Amino acid sequence: MSKIFVDACFGKETPYTPVWMMRQAGRYLPEYMKVRAEAGNFLNLCHDPKKACEVTLQPVDIVGVDAAILFSDILVIPDEMGMDLEFIKGEGPKFNDPIKDESELERLIGGDEAASKLTYVYETIKLIKEQLAEDKALIGFTGAPWTLATYMIEGQGTKTYNICKKMMYSNPELLHKILAKVTEVVKLYMEKQIEAGIDVVQIFDSWAAAIEPSKYDEFSWKYMVEIADYLKAKYPHIPIIMFPKGIPSFLDSVYGNFDVFGVDWSTPMTLAKEKLGDRYVLQGNMEPCRLYSKEATTTSVEEIQNIMGTSRHIFNLGHGILPDVPVENAKHFVSECQRVSRKS
Ligand code: CP3
Repeated sequence: MSKIFVDACFGKETPYTPVWMMRQAGRYLPEYMKVRAEAGNFLNLCHDPKKACEVTLQPVDIVGVDAAILFSDILVIPDEMGMDLEFIKGEGPKFNDPIKDESELERLIGGDEAASKLTYVYETIKLIKEQLAEDKALIGFTGAPWTLATYMIEGQGTKTYNICKKMMYSNPELLHKILAKVTEVVKLYMEKQIEAGIDVVQIFDSWAAAIEPSKYDEFSWKYMVEIADYLKAKYPHIPIIMFPKGIPSFLDSVYGNFDVFGVDWSTPMTLAKEKLGDRYVLQGNMEPCRLYSKEATTTSVEEIQNIMGTSRHIFNLGHGILPDVPVENAKHFVSECQRVSRKS
């Protein structure tokens, strides 16, 4: 059966514009909180294929999105490269052993050895595929090498990225070695996700905006394109979505062999359409905080629909849903997207 989500990624005609929400499996759902409590903590949940499968399917059943996104985290990649990941309550992710120099990089596990350790992810994908309705797509994902490297170098989330940037300007060779090593693992990791059954790939460059525009290609985009080239050469039927967050000035320089460009909420959809709409299907881009109000949500969905028309578009938020959004409002967003874009 053809999946309208996959068709839409390739720019084919679909009965309506499909919709999903970034970070749609998570804390705003009481059903998620229950499973997470049973798992004990977030990482246990990622490591348990049965539970990860269950929370992946929740937003499809409860909110009605057209695609599921694999439940996992981008940071399981550096974790399996040998870094020591912890999720600290109220603080977020933390690596206790950030990379400071070349010798620490060399100790990290690379290539197929690291990608082969993520078996629980591949198991989760197989379970999801057994249970997901045939007309719904499963999105697999990775962090962009740059976004992953920010955590590997800083050890945690950061406002200033000063440790990464010190490396960028004073030892760019080391930063490139880190990015290249992560890129190799990500290529094989995504290949194994595809072999396990995902239908679509999304690459999250959540911290793209930390890089000055003239350096963005060198330190992030070219590695994302390298991953896309590798996957497209082997799996041309799998659509690839690139999501670099918060870099409208880069729209003029976008290149690469991928299918969908994810537009974040700070970039006007009209601008993205003008610059990229002929070359890529566009995804996005409602400001996620509009989900606090049903009226504000409907207004935005209609505006986006007016700009994008009924093809070459996938509805989504312009970044992740927040934990205190009422479930009713998330359902409203999804049904409004499907309503305004239905063709008959
Ligand atoms: O539906 C989904 O998208 C769920 C799968 C998913 C998670 N993380 C689960 C998660 C995905 C696709 C991610 C990606 C991710 N992880 C990104 C890129 C996407 C983005 O939002 O920009 C980033 C930067 C991370 C790293 C990360 N993971 C942070 C910074 C945090 C703490 C902040 C936060 O959102 O809580 C996490 C934890 C995390 N990852 C949670 C979930 C559901 C919350 C953990 C919990 O249940 O307490």
